[in-house]
Amino acid sequence: MKKHFVTVAQMGDLMPGTCRSIELDEVSLALCNIDGKIYALDNVCPHAGGPLGEGTVEGTHVACPWHGWKFDIPTGTCMKNPVDSWKVPRYEVREKNGEIQVLLQPPIREDFQETSSE
Ligand code: FES
Repeated sequence: MKKHFVTVAQMGDLMPGTCRSIELDEVSLALCNIDGKIYALDNVCPHAGGPLGEGTVEGTHVACPWHGWKFDIPTGTCMKNPVDSWKVPRYEVREKNGEIQVLLQPPIREDFQETSSE
């Protein structure tokens, strides 16, 4: 499947310490800003499907708005049950000319190698 970056927001749209849901045709994303660095996670909480992008950012974690489970934003790790099966898939993000762009397909998993594709 061909990789492609998609502009999902402007840098000014997402203040540090916040996250938001981004709905695309292909996927629903939780876009999070930790101290100016942007991360994109799958927006579906592995517990019961809560929208992680509507959650609260606490340091490097986001708390799911439905039952409060916390996930490490940079890694997608579930803090309540840190096993791979509860990990939230991540997507590669880049900033280009003030735009937040997300690399769609494949999401970052344990065996994913960071790319420098343009
Ligand atoms: S749906 Fe996210 S903690 Fe329950």
